[in-house]
Amino acid sequence: MIRSLSGLITAAAVAATLSAGLAACGQSTEVKSDMPPLPASATAPVVYPKDVHSYAQPQIARVRHVDLDLTADFTARTLSGTATLDVSAEPGATQVILDTRNLDIKAVRGAEGPLQYLLGPADPILGQALTITVPAFAAGETRKIMVDYSTRPDAAALQWLTPAQTAGGKLPFLFSQGQAILTRTWVPTQDSPGIRQTYSAKITVPDTLTAVMSAEMLTPDGEAAANGGGAGTHSYRFRMTNPVPPYLIALAVGDLAFAADGTRTGVWTEPSKLEAARAEFAEMGQMVDAAETLYGPYRWGRYDLLILPPSFPFGGMENPRLTFATPTVVAGDKSLVSLVAHELAHSWSGNLVTNATWADFWLNEGFTTYFQNRIMEAVYGNARAQQERVLGWDSLQEQLKDLPAADTRLHLDLTGRDPDEGMTDIAYEKGAAFLETIERTVGRERFDAWLKGYFERNAFRPMTTELFLQDIRANLIKGDTALETALQMDAWIYQPGLPSNAMAPTSDAFVAVDAAAKAFFADRGSASAIPWKAWNTQQRQRFLQWRPANLRADGDWLTNQQLADLEKTLNLANEGNAEVVFGWLQLAIAHRYQPAVPKLESFLTSQGRRKFVLPLFTNLWAEGDWGRPLATRIYARARPGYHPVTSGSVDALVGAPGAAAAR
Ligand code: BES
Ligand code: ZN
Repeated sequence: MIRSLSGLITAAAVAATLSAGLAACGQSTEVKSDMPPLPASATAPVVYPKDVHSYAQPQIARVRHVDLDLTADFTARTLSGTATLDVSAEPGATQVILDTRNLDIKAVRGAEGPLQYLLGPADPILGQALTITVPAFAAGETRKIMVDYSTRPDAAALQWLTPAQTAGGKLPFLFSQGQAILTRTWVPTQDSPGIRQTYSAKITVPDTLTAVMSAEMLTPDGEAAANGGGAGTHSYRFRMTNPVPPYLIALAVGDLAFAADGTRTGVWTEPSKLEAARAEFAEMGQMVDAAETLYGPYRWGRYDLLILPPSFPFGGMENPRLTFATPTVVAGDKSLVSLVAHELAHSWSGNLVTNATWADFWLNEGFTTYFQNRIMEAVYGNARAQQERVLGWDSLQEQLKDLPAADTRLHLDLTGRDPDEGMTDIAYEKGAAFLETIERTVGRERFDAWLKGYFERNAFRPMTTELFLQDIRANLIKGDTALETALQMDAWIYQPGLPSNAMAPTSDAFVAVDAAAKAFFADRGSASAIPWKAWNTQQRQRFLQWRPANLRADGDWLTNQQLADLEKTLNLANEGNAEVVFGWLQLAIAHRYQPAVPKLESFLTSQGRRKFVLPLFTNLWAEGDWGRPLATRIYARARPGYHPVTSGSVDALVGAPGAAAAR
């Protein structure tokens, strides 16, 4: 790898390196040639279950490949150009139905010229069906359909950042977020996770900016823009040769630099943030190795990480080859790297074996949470992994108290609902607890052998809960009725709550934490007795989350004096770890601790991760006369900086007071 003196390389330098590598061996073929072949099951015909979140009828006509030729206009805040779709269909089919939402469709064309199309009624969640009428398909025929279109400035998948919203402060930034059903707001295609598509793209951007995608970068330097962009622009070409669910098509454009780490991993981010990001994620290569040792080959070539500006609404997003991540995980001490383990694990659970519809989101997130903990255990040791398992379990217990019973089943019915409503700890933590229960029951060796086989047998295929049950019965349980009974699989999947074979994980490292928490919170001890400096981030999180049962029944179980003691002794006003800050602010709000309001305000206006933002506004809202005016005031300031995913959720709670001003 070419490295500058600082050990970092810029986009231009990586460009040179990558193109040298491409010329030498052809990057994607190199990756594929040493991949073990997939079993026959992986090429069997796919049966599409009904996806209530897509208008597509894949059993009649389905998109196989998407080729994008788009120009990013940062002034108009649009992506515009053409999507060329390769479509195959049943013989005689005369209609192709795509998903769209909030797109300006200019024309639809076939090889012979314009095609007739109709945009159906707009549903606020699903958007509009785009029904294209075509001459009848012949048997085995694949055809190209061109859609000329432009996105709207408020496309829900896209966030257009002003220079002020970036670290550099000089250049704008754009990123997309497709999951669950937002890809249709920037790409007119069949937006269902069961309908896999390969893709390629040419993205034209201002010369000052670099484009990256969840795909192989073919022109790392950029190339002269052939058309569309005009003077001062250049284009990047990409290709993704593995078929992917459309929610994984992803794009980011900004002032980006790259630092390699080993041979197949590296970090992209704004130049001023690069060194910190590189150091934080120095074990990425080890994580990929550990994951492969556990569950089989990494089938995507490179694994890079893109650290986005602070408005990125999620912790991470498993875009293939290029995980998108919040900068709030760059803690300075590697304490939050499990997020990378999680997104990396999705390269198997989710990106290789994909939930067929959002009703089975647990197949993506539960498997991934289980796998994430296994990677953490392999790279950072069992003690750390166990701490994280316990924090996950605790958070599940909280959610089980809050959610309606029907939503505590693993398999969900999301008809008429936004699939985001399935994004709870049930999918993640109940899902992981289910797999841990199976592991404990059959033993790790047998479980790992099954799981590795499951990823192989079902690679590049949609998965449903029913197919999962068939697979595990055929390949692990194998008619052992005692085992079948012991596992209680139907109860885990179709019943609310936790079955009787669920077992809480424990961590020795939390015993002393709980004792210190009880001494401070319940027995009203002094904060000076808390061995805070000796604790890691997970222990600190556990401490701040400690809630004695019923203690706040009278509305005031900690005094301002106690909270001031805690804040000062632990130096919480200057805390920089986002998870620790979040824990502290939740505690402070619950006690209406006014001196923490400036910290709260700066936290809510300096990052837009929904996992932090929404609970804090929810907590404020719950504090009635004290919290609601604060929530309204802070939200008016914070909202213009948030991604639509985050502001949409907070709007539903606080209303959109700043909405008029923000638009
Ligand atoms: N795939 C999810 C993010 C997601 C889920 C986006 C549903 C949109 C709809 C991603 O893998 C994820 O789970 N991210 C977590 C972090 C993880 C460590 C639990 C997050 O963003 O908090
Ligand atoms: Zn995930």
